[in-house]
Amino acid sequence: MKFKQPFHKVYHNLLLTTENEVWAYFTCPSDYVIGQNKEVQEKHKQKWNQFLQSLRRFEDFELFLNPHSYNLGERLTAFSENFDEQAKLMGDSLVDRTLSELENQLRVLTTEKFYIGVKLSSLSSATTVKGKAMEVVDYYAGKLLSLNHYHLTVDEDFFKRYRSIESEIFQLVGTINGRRLTEQEVLQACRYPYVRGMKTSFDLDFVENSSYSLTDTILDPTEEQGLLKLRSSEGTSYIALLPIHKFAPNLAFNHIAEVVQSLPFPVEFRLKGHFEPLKGGRGLKGKSSRAAKRLKNSAKETVSMGDSEMKSSRFNRYALTDLNNKIDLRVPVIKWLGLFGVFGQTPEECRSRIRTIISLCQSRNVEIVKGLADQVFLFHQFLAGNKLGPEKNWLHYTTVEGISEMLLSVENRIGDNVGIPIGIVSELKNTRNLTPKEVAKTSRKPIFFNPSIGNQNDIADKKANSPHIAITGPTGNGKSYLAKFIFFLSVLMNGKGLYVDPKSEFFDWIMEVINHPLYQEKYPDTCAFIQQHFHQVRLDPNKTSNKGVLDPFCFIPNRVAAKDMAQDLFEELYDFTSAREKKSRLAMLEGIETVLKRRDQGERIGLLHVVDFMLESTHEEVRDTASLIKKSVQGSILELAFSYGENEGLNLTNKVTILEVLGLEMPRAETLSSDYSATQRKSVMLMMSIGKFCELFGLRDREESTVVLFDESWIFNSSKNGRAIIKSMRRVGRSFNNTLIIVTQSVKDTAEEDDTGNFGRIFAYDDKDEREDILHHLGLEITNENIEWLKNLPKYHCLYLDLRGHVGKMLVYCPYEEIHQMLQTVKKNTSADVETTFSG
Ligand SMILES: Nc1ncnc2c1ncn2[C@@H]1O[C@H](COP(=O)(O)OP(=O)(O)OP(=O)(O)O)[C@@H](O)[C@H]1O
Ligand SMILES: [Mg+2]
Repeated sequence: MKFKQPFHKVYHNLLLTTENEVWAYFTCPSDYVIGQNKEVQEKHKQKWNQFLQSLRRFEDFELFLNPHSYNLGERLTAFSENFDEQAKLMGDSLVDRTLSELENQLRVLTTEKFYIGVKLSSLSSATTVKGKAMEVVDYYAGKLLSLNHYHLTVDEDFFKRYRSIESEIFQLVGTINGRRLTEQEVLQACRYPYVRGMKTSFDLDFVENSSYSLTDTILDPTEEQGLLKLRSSEGTSYIALLPIHKFAPNLAFNHIAEVVQSLPFPVEFRLKGHFEPLKGGRGLKGKSSRAAKRLKNSAKETVSMGDSEMKSSRFNRYALTDLNNKIDLRVPVIKWLGLFGVFGQTPEECRSRIRTIISLCQSRNVEIVKGLADQVFLFHQFLAGNKLGPEKNWLHYTTVEGISEMLLSVENRIGDNVGIPIGIVSELKNTRNLTPKEVAKTSRKPIFFNPSIGNQNDIADKKANSPHIAITGPTGNGKSYLAKFIFFLSVLMNGKGLYVDPKSEFFDWIMEVINHPLYQEKYPDTCAFIQQHFHQVRLDPNKTSNKGVLDPFCFIPNRVAAKDMAQDLFEELYDFTSAREKKSRLAMLEGIETVLKRRDQGERIGLLHVVDFMLESTHEEVRDTASLIKKSVQGSILELAFSYGENEGLNLTNKVTILEVLGLEMPRAETLSSDYSATQRKSVMLMMSIGKFCELFGLRDREESTVVLFDESWIFNSSKNGRAIIKSMRRVGRSFNNTLIIVTQSVKDTAEEDDTGNFGRIFAYDDKDEREDILHHLGLEITNENIEWLKNLPKYHCLYLDLRGHVGKMLVYCPYEEIHQMLQTVKKNTSADVETTFSG
């Protein structure tokens, strides 16, 4: 048997075959669809049903999915242009490491591209096509054609003949958002099978070398049993084409075209389909009634022999009846042949991939086989432009649903298109006893984080309009780890960063890491960047130079804002609500007004002047209240916020500031605010002052980007004033180039009645008390299955709702060891030794 390759000429998105047939090619974007949203999944299948049905009058079509280069190098280079001048060295070295890490693991980072080919020619008048084609055909079997030669020089006539019918298909492809392929893309689709798995095989901009020819590739089925060895000027590789052999009786929900994309290596999918004529001699009806008769006879035989009808033939009979019904209803039936393709650099690699994919499909009740002796045949049969021939094996007759149940052209990638990876899309069913590194190795879907994208307006398909980021989850899950990681990446960009660290757990530790000789030697750029640009502001209430740096009268220039904040603080500190306190409250408000007037005149004042004003009141109860306030401030951490204006308010000018307050005692999230101890209450008050400061920090300059990370920001939800503060922090947002990263316990804290100040990205760790809320907030269906799914989120995994509104299961993973080290949360007073933590 001699196999011919079918390509003759390519013109725009049309391929003229050596059989004088013309195929038109299109591609469509993969839809983001995940199993957690059944409804979306079903809609997607409906769409494909509709599309495939619409092709029925074209008879022959093909669908295929090829791995396609992600162009990671180019994307990262473009990304690295956004680095801050001061962070360039560290940023560039991170980019280099990202590239080599991913290439090491995956060789080439690929995505998938879905193609649709439809045969046109049978509809035009056959004789003229033939006549036309004879003119252009100077082909004889075996002639070597270079890619260049496939370009067709056609006359107007040729173009016209196919244009109207091609545009008709173009309209149909619109159902699935398809577009026409370019000539280069068609050539790539023709070329790909011959260079599968070789390094350059995924690139569109392959070198068009005039002496290069597809058919120079040697297919060798003899070297390795069951595999095809491809050898060409671009290298060698081993491939295997695995036809889909059998489905479970019910095709529903097998979704195999989707599931194979979760494997850690690229998998091709190819399908050739033919709409069967329903009636007539060669039609399906005839075939199926002959088959039914055969089955009936065999059933009779087995019964008469005392056996019950065999199970399988009973099913066949059922299927045939079903088929007959469909034929009568004129439901189109497709004859099709489908396969998965894998490749490897070595025969062993290819074989292990075969095993993986076969067992994965088995778990979905779909049997795929090795097609040992037929590799060369399958290779040719599935080239673009070949239609289904007279072959008998592995054929399926189904309605369009049989094809769309495989769930074609979907994807589940999340995150930004480019950036530094902060984790991977995690698809393993079982991760027990696997380290994060081992889990990360099983994915070829890194989740990129691009810090500057949240603030940009003109990103296609961006859903969320807010640059803010929320990280939610119960204690100890890894919220701070992720928050700090994101913060690190954000400060590589232009602008300033502020990290509010109520637990004072970050700065000393990163200093210890970067001062370690091991890291200094291995990662000088990271160490230098942090050494130069990370500054600690540690507020110690015992230092006289710190007194009043958080006094709203000192750091809030705006009069109204200063007044509101002052009032908030007084009300947090002392309960003015009871009727008896009416006079005190009045005095406090008057005091604020009077003192602010003095500030207007240039005097340096502070909140304690308000207390002094109250002390001068003629009413005894007001004086008592004032003394109480003064007493509770004196000698406590509140001296940071209540002062006589002796110091300048906090003002940050460094690139990165880590703000800590000594002596804070944060209540636990679950403690009721009425149960707070005095120190806890004061700590919360200081946090509010800091919250206000963060808002001003973001508002300072429209042009300069700022990123504020507020760890433990659930604290704001403990009181009404606190909620107002976080609300205004969230309002700053895009118009001021401000990104707020908040870390909080409950996903409910991310909600907002109006649209302003929403979160563009949400990372939610599982919380056993909030599963329904998590699903709801991230837009997933609340079903038992999904709750179970959440329950089984492994360690260091969270759900990520990205800027496009896509949600997925993510392993937070930092492959950069020195940064990983810095992200550790080291409890104070356990002696922090870099080496021991690192080995643990
Ligand atoms: N993605 C990760 N990879 C490796 N280790 C991690 C990861 N996430 C967290 N860890 C480890 O878990 C520890 C606890 O994480 P982290 O301090 O971020 O938790 P948290 O949610 O902030 O807890 P808390 O609510 O107590 O602040 C970290 O010190 C780190 O060692
Ligand atoms: Mg934390």
